[in-house]
Amino acid sequence: MTAAGRIDQLRREIRRHEELYYVHAQPEIADAAFDALMNELRALEAAHPELVTPDSPTQRVGGRPVEGFVTVVHAVPMLSLDNAYDEADLRAFDERVRKGLGGADSPSYVCELKIDGLSISLTYEHGKLVRGATRGDGVRGEEVTFNVRTIRAIPLALKHGPADRVEIRGEVYFPRQAFERLNAEREEQGEPLFANPRNAAAGTMRTLDPTQVSKRGLSAWLYQVVGPGTNPPENAAELATHAAMLRALKAWGCPVEPHWHEADGLDGVLAFCETWREKRHTLPFETDGVVVKLNDLALRERLGTTSKFPRWATAFKYPAQQATTLLEQIEVNIGRTGAATPYAVLEPVQVAGSTISLATLHNPEDIARKDIREGDTVIVEKAGDVIPRVVGPVLAKRPPHSRPWVMPTDCPVCHSRLHKAEDEVVWRCENSSCPARLMRSLDHFVSRGAMNIEGLGEVLIRQLVEKALVKDAADIYHLTAGTLEDLERLGKKSAAKLMGQIERSKANEVWRLLNALGIRHVGERGAQVLADHFGSVEAIEAAPVEELQEVHEVGPVMAVSVRSWFDEPRNRRLVERLREAGVRTVGERKAAPRAPKPLAGKSFVITGTLDSMSREAAAARLEALGGKVTGSVSRKTSYVIVGAEPGSKLEKARALGVPTLEEGEFLGLIMGES
Ligand code: IVH
Repeated sequence: MTAAGRIDQLRREIRRHEELYYVHAQPEIADAAFDALMNELRALEAAHPELVTPDSPTQRVGGRPVEGFVTVVHAVPMLSLDNAYDEADLRAFDERVRKGLGGADSPSYVCELKIDGLSISLTYEHGKLVRGATRGDGVRGEEVTFNVRTIRAIPLALKHGPADRVEIRGEVYFPRQAFERLNAEREEQGEPLFANPRNAAAGTMRTLDPTQVSKRGLSAWLYQVVGPGTNPPENAAELATHAAMLRALKAWGCPVEPHWHEADGLDGVLAFCETWREKRHTLPFETDGVVVKLNDLALRERLGTTSKFPRWATAFKYPAQQATTLLEQIEVNIGRTGAATPYAVLEPVQVAGSTISLATLHNPEDIARKDIREGDTVIVEKAGDVIPRVVGPVLAKRPPHSRPWVMPTDCPVCHSRLHKAEDEVVWRCENSSCPARLMRSLDHFVSRGAMNIEGLGEVLIRQLVEKALVKDAADIYHLTAGTLEDLERLGKKSAAKLMGQIERSKANEVWRLLNALGIRHVGERGAQVLADHFGSVEAIEAAPVEELQEVHEVGPVMAVSVRSWFDEPRNRRLVERLREAGVRTVGERKAAPRAPKPLAGKSFVITGTLDSMSREAAAARLEALGGKVTGSVSRKTSYVIVGAEPGSKLEKARALGVPTLEEGEFLGLIMGES
């Protein structure tokens, strides 16, 4: 078989497995076997770059990070949905629909689970994904094509879809597992947690670096084909109902949430909502309700929309999951940076399918405002949110003689005074040798995204700190097998293994150490950028704030934070001791991962239709790289990009002698080949 033949075969095979996984939830092969196919394809494409096409599964993460997002106007506004909170609301909705249609019987509806994610619009031209955009305010959204392409559930090319142009809408969401993994990583890095999958999805879609997005494990469910004018005649017949639309989407290879149900009249709708009230907690993603849609598309047209909502659909929302339980105690947690956060210790209670025994209380002001006291019976809630919260006390059940809670004046661990800056709500323990802070910073130092020392877990760290065997991160490198063996529950073998891990970590790449130091505002990504630019911890230590700030992706906040961290003598001593212990602080300077504005000073005109993306998307890419895109050709135009069926602009370019680029050359340009 020729290389081209094998490449084609591999692409089909890979897409087939993606589809089996994401559309049909019936994978046929293990992850490793799938990776092997991808690796083979990557190798072949590397050997035959001329055979790479934008819709190859290897091209999901293409291009460089973007500088910002471009606003796009939705051809048809992306409306929101009216809400229904109970059976009476659903009945009222059904009555409005019947009245509007002048019919006596309740019509056929489709019930879908309401996905707790972010709505997205996808445009396919000639079957190829050319644009992804967020909903934004419904009229204008942001072009996020490069992020959308990384979501493996979303096909880069449709199977037997409409031939010309079609817009498909749906929801991008975080599967529970991916969401939990993301938050666990953020916790390790001392970054604020996302309260719910929806916020996480929104935050991720606004990430400028598609490589980062691709690692987060977003997925999607699609539920709408947008008309009018987008349904070519050959599809018009199959798309007479919403149910047909969902079937068509699935046939085109799009992920369609499989639990949708065609309900004959309101009773079926009510039954569906009842069925999923509890069952929804067993799904691998969050849903907070049911979307009820009139099935017949022609009838929808007759009902029309208000300025905000379609009259033919409503979103039934389940009430937030609440329970009452005893608040036994309010305790204060001290984080790595010394932040003191009160939290509730609860008598364990079941809410939304999980047992809750702790809940955050945010800050003392919040506790005072809600008048939450120890010994109170409280209402706890999980409302699409993953972190449970205390709603408030049940006053009728308050025991006599209870007293308002007061924030302790001292750190519960080291007993030094807590402080609060004027402009902050957060109290902090400012004792940098506070054992609680030390333990949290050591947890972070050894974590996966930092020095990655396996086997040095929280329990062990606690013992080491309590026995004063470790007073800062550098002490880890002075531990001996003998000391470790003496610790509770650590045998000879585990001690030896851990010593090996500690030794190995000395040779880590420099960014790991930089992240491990726990400098505020420097996460994994920030550490990588700094390490790439400066090459060593020493060079960063020596850099004035202006120089730090000039580094691409390092903002003023990070720059100041880095500078003041290194200005602290004890921090500099720590770095010195780490270096003396043999930890690597010098790496390689790498050129910035992207030249900031390679197309600066160049101007472009686009004419004709491009195969790989819409003209807006092409313009956005050029502008992101510093180029200017204008509407008409002049002597000053640097290049004219020529798609299929170009207009008079091509003739003008020829007349003026302006160079032209074919689509392939244009793609090479934006992918950074020249
Ligand atoms: S239909 C005009 N179906 O809920 C119809 N929306 O509260 C628009 N959503 O903006 C949407 N799951 O982001 C529809 N199965 C589903 C949905 C869904 C989640 C979101 C969507 C919409 C919001 C409205």
